[in-house]
Amino acid sequence: MILNGPNLDQLGTREPELYGTLTLAGIESLCKETAAALDMSIDFRQTNDEATLIGWLHEAAKSDVAVIMNPAAFTHYSVAIRDAAAMLTAPLIEVHLSNPIAREEFRHTSLISGISKGTISGFGAQSYVLALNALAKL
Ligand code: DQA
Repeated sequence: MILNGPNLDQLGTREPELYGTLTLAGIESLCKETAAALDMSIDFRQTNDEATLIGWLHEAAKSDVAVIMNPAAFTHYSVAIRDAAAMLTAPLIEVHLSNPIAREEFRHTSLISGISKGTISGFGAQSYVLALNALAKL
């Protein structure tokens, strides 16, 4: 599962100087191509709603599915997303388009990093490609 949090549905026009001009649909296509080359299948989703994201994490935990997640703003404050992600049984990789550590101080804390196998940040859409490659090796 590749899970995306709030405001990522606005990519393309959302702060392009930070996030680039590729839409989320463009990132999904890139992930599909990458996954096909790695002989993996993906289920790519986005929500602006915390409860929905928690439900998807429960689903992934129950089905022992690996997760690549860009929790977006939830990264920095959602204990509920962290608790749900902590139930995952297969690897979790945290991804970000930008590098939160190089941005405002409130973005320096990630509640997700500590329960992730690893975090890939700052490479734009390539962060997702790198995460898929990392997952294929795990
Ligand atoms: C983000 C970084 C977060 O700080 C921010 O709230 C986002 C996007 C990224 O992909 O760079 O919405 O997760």
